Amino acid sequence: MIRFGVIGAGRIGKVHAKTIAANPKAKLAYIADAMPEAAQALSDQYGARVATVEDIMKAKDVDAVLIGSPTGFHAEQIQTASNAGKAIMCEKPVSLSVDLITQTLKVVEKNKTTLMIGFNRRFDPNFAEVERRIRNGDVGTVEMVTVISRDPAPPPAQYVKGSGGIFADMMIHDFDMARFLMGEEFVVVQALGAALVDKEIGEAGDVDTAAVQMQTKSGKIAVITNSRRATYGYDQRMEVHGSKGMVHAKNVHNSTVEVLSDQGYRADPIQNFFLERYSVAYANELNAFIEAVESGNHDPKPNGFDGLQAQILAEAATQSWKTGKPVAL
Ligand SMILES: NC(=O)c1ccc[n+]([C@@H]2O[C@H](COP(=O)([O-])OP(=O)(O)OC[C@H]3O[C@@H](n4cnc5c(N)ncnc54)[C@H](O)[C@@H]3O)[C@@H](O)[C@H]2O)c1
Repeated sequence: MIRFGVIGAGRIGKVHAKTIAANPKAKLAYIADAMPEAAQALSDQYGARVATVEDIMKAKDVDAVLIGSPTGFHAEQIQTASNAGKAIMCEKPVSLSVDLITQTLKVVEKNKTTLMIGFNRRFDPNFAEVERRIRNGDVGTVEMVTVISRDPAPPPAQYVKGSGGIFADMMIHDFDMARFLMGEEFVVVQALGAALVDKEIGEAGDVDTAAVQMQTKSGKIAVITNSRRATYGYDQRMEVHGSKGMVHAKNVHNSTVEVLSDQGYRADPIQNFFLERYSVAYANELNAFIEAVESGNHDPKPNGFDGLQAQILAEAATQSWKTGKPVAL
């Protein structure tokens, strides 16, 4: 039984608290939040106890810390938890500063901490199967990876201001997915972006519509497109083309029902957002983390290095968008 302290009782903290509470190998021991009433409400829901972040770090009856606080606190909280001997699952991105991630990973390495980063999409059964088919050689040598990711609606401009921008906040998942599927690192990044959905996002210095092209040393290409708008739900697709064929994963609909008439085929809408679309992925992610902690695996994937690489790509894309020039890594 792994005893968890959850830090952050916001959107993602709620998902993790629910997933931990439902897992027979996990105990939701404590929840901390900068707003104690948020921690209290979530604790009441699952029979956990409210604590401060400091208490969780020191608690003898906490084996693992799940960090779901805003991005700006992750690096410091990872370091504190690592020095306190806890296993750590931390949400993406690790930090908006590549230097701070590097420094944090040194602490993690020194303490031999089990650290996993919340790139939950690797644990989506469909996407995991795409990766398995690639490694199995089903499409031959991979030549091109395409990732499409569109949110149903933009976040409030206030959220955008502290998010690090679309490349670090949203596309970071797609950078990780592109690396996961490609199996090679990228050496050049080129980005375009515009605020076409919400003017306020543009005024906050960010974009809501973005496209990135990346290339590996051997010439393989990845294309990622993001939008903060999709009228038809949470659009999450990918396609990998190789020398022997193509493998792709489609969107998941609310049901498999289709109505056929002289007007054509009508399917149910696709699942609305990450809470629904990735509920199984979050549960699988937690299971992978628990297995790593139980088996003493200090380097479960996606690890700190994956977090670092994704942030390097996000930084390069941001720079490319701002300068209009490709960035070599
Ligand atoms: N993997 C995913 O699917 C996914 C989805 C959403 C968010 N995220 C990531 O999770 C993190 C949190 O995002 P969110 O959408 O849940 O934000 P949120 O604003 O909904 O929740 C953050 C919570 O943390 C609390 N908080 C603020 N400072 C704190 C501190 N120092 N210590 C503890 N708690 C603190 C806030 O009061 C708030 O309740 C971000 O890094 C985000 O990128 C990941």
